[in-house]
Amino acid sequence: MPAEAPTREYRSGSDQRTLRDALGSFATGVTVVTCVDSLGLPFGLTVNSFTSVSLDPPLLAVCIARGASCAPALLEAPHFAVNVLQTGQQPASIRFSTRDEDRFGTTPWSTSETGAPLLMDSLAVFECERHAVHEGGDHDILIGEVVRASFDPNLDPLLYFRGSYRRLHFG
Ligand SMILES: Cc1cc2nc3c(=O)[nH]c(=O)nc-3n(C[C@H](O)[C@H](O)[C@H](O)COP(=O)(O)O)c2cc1C
Repeated sequence: MPAEAPTREYRSGSDQRTLRDALGSFATGVTVVTCVDSLGLPFGLTVNSFTSVSLDPPLLAVCIARGASCAPALLEAPHFAVNVLQTGQQPASIRFSTRDEDRFGTTPWSTSETGAPLLMDSLAVFECERHAVHEGGDHDILIGEVVRASFDPNLDPLLYFRGSYRRLHFG
């Protein structure tokens, strides 16, 4: 029988890799957060730091790395969209997390009433008005007020766990 991997531990000041791996123990869905800038150019990036925040008012949050090239556009846009990906959209997730990709040129999308790009065939879409931006270390926490949400109950989610894409497994 192969030896079991030992439990690993991070303490403040020790290596960031272990902390990243510990955080990767939290399985998530995958989203692409999109907006247009003041010139109407589309921006978007893959994000799994998505969470619901409040029902009344309806708020959600995503954490955006300060260094991401689309961070300025996203943090300034009056509206943005959170596209929750389904299993067939793994290529879009890879494209929207890879530098120097033609992200929108090769992904089918449409424009929402608020102007934010919506990826076709997503599992769910949340169209948001910017509500607040809070500092969070090397990320900014972008809070949106949901003005419209839609979802397809027939699709399964794309998942992310321990640095790999996964699918739901019903045992
Ligand atoms: C599954 C997955 C989840 C990610 N989640 C986030 C996130 O929550 N916040 C973030 O800023 N970057 C996240 N990233 C990294 C960004 O997608 C990536 O760094 C970004 O697309 C680089 O954008 P830029 O080329 O516009 O700088 C994630 C990447 C992957 C593959």
